[in-house]
Amino acid sequence: MKILAFESSCDETAVAVVEDGRRVLSDAIASQADMHALYGGVVPEIASRKHVEAIAALTDKALADAGVTRRDIDAVAVTYAPGLIGAGLVGLSFAKSVAYALGVPLIPVHHIRGHIAANYLAFPELEPPFLALCMSGGNTLLVDVRDYTDLTLVGATRDDAAGECFDKAARVLGMPYPGGKPMDELAQQSAGGVYDLPRASIEGHPLDMSFSGLKTAVVNLAHNAGQKGEPLDCAALARDFTRAVSDELVPRAMLAARKCGRKTLVAAGGVAANTILRADLMAACAREGVKLYLPPLRLCGDNGAMIGAQGYYEYLAGARADLSLNAYATRDIDDAVVAYRAQVRDIFA
Ligand code: KG4
Repeated sequence: MKILAFESSCDETAVAVVEDGRRVLSDAIASQADMHALYGGVVPEIASRKHVEAIAALTDKALADAGVTRRDIDAVAVTYAPGLIGAGLVGLSFAKSVAYALGVPLIPVHHIRGHIAANYLAFPELEPPFLALCMSGGNTLLVDVRDYTDLTLVGATRDDAAGECFDKAARVLGMPYPGGKPMDELAQQSAGGVYDLPRASIEGHPLDMSFSGLKTAVVNLAHNAGQKGEPLDCAALARDFTRAVSDELVPRAMLAARKCGRKTLVAAGGVAANTILRADLMAACAREGVKLYLPPLRLCGDNGAMIGAQGYYEYLAGARADLSLNAYATRDIDDAVVAYRAQVRDIFA
């Protein structure tokens, strides 16, 4: 079964053709990052307009790269949530038109489910159940993946996402958007141990996280140094910052795996590309006898193939949308209500 998949929830327009959920026939991506770098972060209005400009030509490219025509497409999958609402609506409306014109089913796909499914493309043997640590620019979640379409949120950030924290810390250190990769490279140049940065914990909710205090600490450090004319060891700060992010994420992921009885951990999202985090996850999983899946770097960030992969399993489970499907800025991963918080299952109860 060949699925034409669309992703436009942030600043990447992405269209892919995926066969049977596991085989990528094409994966066309038009990144807008250079445009948003001028402003130090994603400008939603510009993102929407850039998606409009790119999506039709990118669809032609995805079909051509896959060596298929429109007639070969069996279904259309599309990200409907969560993300920037204007940006998401562009991909959603285009996907609806394509499904309507071709007379094929339209499959709604949750963006974070897609990030998790990126691993199905890289690892043919991977099957649920497993615990997923999802770390992207807009979301940071711990998810118990009981089956391909049976996912439960067990922990989440209470404020900023890990990626947002990387981007803002990088900006204050003078690095371009998106700051995760340059911070990663800078952190390699120091052993750290210079800056004492906060780690948050939320009483009674050991799997929930918070990154806003860490973000503010880095901003304040940089501003104070600037005001006093004191030098800042940027590489050490990048290293100590990354260590703090890792301390938030890795022990909680291991705890969640234990609590959910999972012996497999899957990483997902753009921040999963981070070198130190990957090493820390490998070490922790080796210590605890947990099998770890780290997506290849090209599948960490937003792409259309991951939507095609998850779309296949949503299709098998019977998920279909009609032409009234709307886009949502927030939507729970088990898609019951809008707020993430309301859906956190208390696995300690
Ligand atoms: O998953 P993604 O492409 O987009 C969302 O769905 O949000 O994640 C983008 C985020 C950005 O915040 C970016 O700075 C971060 O992933 N990122 C990284 C690295 N590469 C990308 N963060 C840390 N280390 C990296 N190597």
